[in-house]
Amino acid sequence: MTLKGVILSGGKGSRLSPITDDYPKQLLPIIGKPILFHCIDHLRKSGIKDIAIIINPETGDQIQEAVNKEDYPENISFIVQEEALGLAHAVNCAKEFIGQDDFLVLLGDNLFDKSLKSLITKFKESQSDSLILLKEVERPYDFGVADIGEDGRVKKLIEKPKTFVSNYAVVGVYLFKASIFNAIEGLNPSARGELEITDAIAKQITLGQTVQTAFLDSYWFDSGTLHGLLDANKTFLLKSEKFDNINTRIRDSYILGKVAIGSGSTIENTKIMGPVYIGKNVHIRDSIIGPFSTIADNCIIDDSELQEVVTMEQASIFNSQIVSSIIFKESTLSNTNPVINKLHK
Ligand code: G1P
Repeated sequence: MTLKGVILSGGKGSRLSPITDDYPKQLLPIIGKPILFHCIDHLRKSGIKDIAIIINPETGDQIQEAVNKEDYPENISFIVQEEALGLAHAVNCAKEFIGQDDFLVLLGDNLFDKSLKSLITKFKESQSDSLILLKEVERPYDFGVADIGEDGRVKKLIEKPKTFVSNYAVVGVYLFKASIFNAIEGLNPSARGELEITDAIAKQITLGQTVQTAFLDSYWFDSGTLHGLLDANKTFLLKSEKFDNINTRIRDSYILGKVAIGSGSTIENTKIMGPVYIGKNVHIRDSIIGPFSTIADNCIIDDSELQEVVTMEQASIFNSQIVSSIIFKESTLSNTNPVINKLHK
């Protein structure tokens, strides 16, 4: 049976305002590549050829445009979720696209390191109705949480529990049979007013269906917050193998550590301390670029100091000091007071 992929990218990203007021959070970059594209890569590597991306009516066209520009060989279609009524509602929007096939769902703002192939194999071999990925966390109360039996199956599943259930949080990776749509039918909104996918899976358990688990032992980021995004960027910078290990003086600049510099970029009288990613056609002069920074294509940085900063394309920064911040595309910062912990637009 074919296995299809669904990426839920309808979320508004209110925790990243003002950057996401009219820009989809799923397009924010992690080392120069939109988060959503990292999700598509996961599906591609697992061999999934039919993918639907659920988008919202306000910013969905920007997602569509960005994905279409990439010209992926997979069949990628877009489905508009007219109202933000929760993850179960978003999954239900893909009902027609799925038909009777099995499918894998990813949340378009979650970044994780796990081969989906192994999950797919486990799902098929266990012949369970659903499979969820779990990660042991210290504070499980902000997530869906699973109580697991000795056979690895889920006994109980609760969305944002008020009292302790277990430390196993639901990561945004789900495998379903088409029967999940029956479980979604007739769901009532949760305390936060949403149709929860967690409640649909919990309903499967009540109906005697089997929900299998797999575990994530590496990183997992919800990139829906400033620090979630910066942490994800940091981890990707540290693990990237494409960077050169540099310890060199080029003309009057000093470049140290893991650094990638794209073609057409120029560095003048500047100190760069890796890990740092610099895209194409970036011009940096008289500046200090500190660790864990990512500068997207076509940016200009002059007489400035940046530390743990993500700048999107075509940002211009003059005579400014910026720490732990994200600078939106095409914005200009000039002679500003230190910018710290900001989403700058
Ligand atoms: C959603 C799910 C939750 C899951 C989390 C993972 O929560 O409802 O079960 O643990 O994603 O990121 P939300 O981000 O909508 O609060």
